[in-house]
Amino acid sequence: MNILVTGGAGFIGTSLIKELLSVYKNISIISLDNYTSGSKKNHINDSKVEYIDGNTWNISNINNIQKFNPQYVFHLGEFSRIVLSFEKPKETFWSNSIGTFEVIEYCLQKKSKLIYSASSAVFNGNDLNPYVFSKSQNIDLIKNYNKWFGLNYSIVYFYNVYGEKQICNGPYATVLGIFEKQFTEDENLTIVSPGTQSRIFTHIDDIVRGLILIAEKGFGDNYHLSSNEEYTINEVANMFDYSKICYIPERRGERMVSIKQENRMEKELGWVAKERLQNYIDKLKRNKLYLEEERNDIQNYIQNHFKNNYKKPLVFFTIDDVQKAIILLLDSKQKIKIISSFDDKISSKIFPYLLDEIKCDITNGFGKCQKKYGTSIEYSYLNLKKIPIEYENIIKLDEHSYSNDHSIYIISMRYIIQIIE
Ligand SMILES: NC(=O)c1ccc[n+]([C@@H]2O[C@H](COP(=O)([O-])OP(=O)(O)OC[C@H]3O[C@@H](n4cnc5c(N)ncnc54)[C@H](O)[C@@H]3O)[C@@H](O)[C@H]2O)c1
Repeated sequence: MNILVTGGAGFIGTSLIKELLSVYKNISIISLDNYTSGSKKNHINDSKVEYIDGNTWNISNINNIQKFNPQYVFHLGEFSRIVLSFEKPKETFWSNSIGTFEVIEYCLQKKSKLIYSASSAVFNGNDLNPYVFSKSQNIDLIKNYNKWFGLNYSIVYFYNVYGEKQICNGPYATVLGIFEKQFTEDENLTIVSPGTQSRIFTHIDDIVRGLILIAEKGFGDNYHLSSNEEYTINEVANMFDYSKICYIPERRGERMVSIKQENRMEKELGWVAKERLQNYIDKLKRNKLYLEEERNDIQNYIQNHFKNNYKKPLVFFTIDDVQKAIILLLDSKQKIKIISSFDDKISSKIFPYLLDEIKCDITNGFGKCQKKYGTSIEYSYLNLKKIPIEYENIIKLDEHSYSNDHSIYIISMRYIIQIIE
């Protein structure tokens, strides 16, 4: 089966592709994404998925997509943010009007079923902002294309989706993504005033399960992927049990409530949302606690390491800990070796970052560096996949280097990756 996903490197697209790969064994997927809000870091490394960097409005000029005959087209690749659509009306209409028109034409030509991602915000009036206006027009256009030309389609409405891979940083971040980042980094949770505005929250796992059901069995309008979890933003912030909260000014084009519609999902397709927002937030709380405890453990671990005369390899988890440890080791005038188990991208970031932080230079791409501490660090690179271009010269260590008692092992964890990024 062939499936085209527009916006396949975005939040929902990434999880959808993962789910499609696990549901269908015989599948070939193309993602078309222009990376305005999506990220190449979301790519799934699987030969069944091809990622094409391009715009939907250009779909008829993209050879591999023209040669492809998808059974389903999940159209998620639109300009997807309300407030930003005031700042970028041109981008909004290029993507959402011209781009979507081209996708509709493509589906008709290929006899593919179009699964269109609409937004529940259209029920608050289509003049709210350029984003909602364009979404609302697309709904009408798709329905008319069915009436006029027989387009096969389903229209799906999303309600504040949250979960893994949600956007936590930058202008495209969603409310839950922003709270997640602020909470994890011990910052104030910023509530957009007045905070009494409510939203319905639906977990990404429920969304992708619903999308596949709709593709297989749905037809027409009004597939609402909404949970029964409606909360005000104040209530969501309270779920974090966290005292650092502040209010920021109201924003243009935002609505006070999410309007829920008569839903065909449960009645016709037997879909109900299973995940709960509080569970997701509790998981974030546990992770934070775990990281804090882990940091304390690491401090003890370092102390013991010194007491035990370097009998065990050191394992560090956060960049701060790694730096602290390196400085301790440098002060102790030990010759140290750093071995990283990061993948190539992270390794090529972490070494310059680390060395810069501790004021050492990289000499000849690898080997020794001596500066501030007058002692040497031998920094090496163990890559299980391939040698990154930037670090071609770094020596590749043998497996047995792992047993070196004086080694620092840096283990890749989400936390470090976030800090580096
Ligand atoms: N996440 C939600 O809560 C929510 C709610 C309502 C509607 N939606 C809709 O669902 C869809 C997916 O949302 P998401 O949360 O994954 O957003 P997202 O911003 O993470 O994903 C959208 C993806 O589309 C890509 N894209 C944008 N314009 C494009 C173009 N012209 N050509 C090719 N690629 C393009 C972006 O780079 C991004 O990867 C969007 O249409 C959005 O409007 C999402």
